[in-house]
Amino acid sequence: MLVTLEGIDGTGKSTLVAALAEPLADLDPVFTREPGATWVGEAVRRAIAEETDPVTEALLFAADHAAHLAAVIRPALDAGKLVISDRYSDSRYAYQQVTLDGIVPDPLSWLRALHDGWTIVPDRTFLFMLPVEEALLRLRQKNGREHFERRDVLVKVQENYLHLARADPARFVIVDAMKDQEEICRFVAGEIRTSVASKRRRMKRPRQDY
Ligand code: TYD
Repeated sequence: MLVTLEGIDGTGKSTLVAALAEPLADLDPVFTREPGATWVGEAVRRAIAEETDPVTEALLFAADHAAHLAAVIRPALDAGKLVISDRYSDSRYAYQQVTLDGIVPDPLSWLRALHDGWTIVPDRTFLFMLPVEEALLRLRQKNGREHFERRDVLVKVQENYLHLARADPARFVIVDAMKDQEEICRFVAGEIRTSVASKRRRMKRPRQDY
């Protein structure tokens, strides 16, 4: 079972990941992240810091995803584990759709084609929504702003996320990131439990070939 957490910078995903460990301990989840679950992430971090050209950056994020699938996601899923990833392919569809605007003709189709055939689509994706002004306020307390963390970029990224969620309501769960951290944690942990239980039930059901 693959669960992903998505949203613009500043929505508190990383804090949530840390908080989820305790209420989900009995499910023994594998917590992972993009970028940076493997050494390829170092190249991505360098690309972000140096503001390299957008196609190079997009391809490095995709390379990081491929390495992440090979080293972490696929082995864990094959072992029947619950995997929770802080960012995943929807980050590319939302962020690189903005950075590739005007560089490739149809960035979303380009990005989807780049992933087609080898990526693994998550079972559930939690999308954390936050007013951009609030996100910027939260980010102001952090050092070393990245080029993604600009108002105009974050507004477009969040719109892209919403479009992705609307196109796939069975997978996405939208979470109000303005809510209290504990409440968010309780809600997300509960939803993950329900999803795991229903997937297990579905897998136990005998096949009907007629
Ligand atoms: P992240 O490590 O989540 O941010 P932080 O360093 O604040 O913990 O991600 C770094 C940045 O990379 C973030 O602004 C989102 C962006 N990003 C993309 O643009 N595309 C991607 O595919 C991914 C995974 C992240």
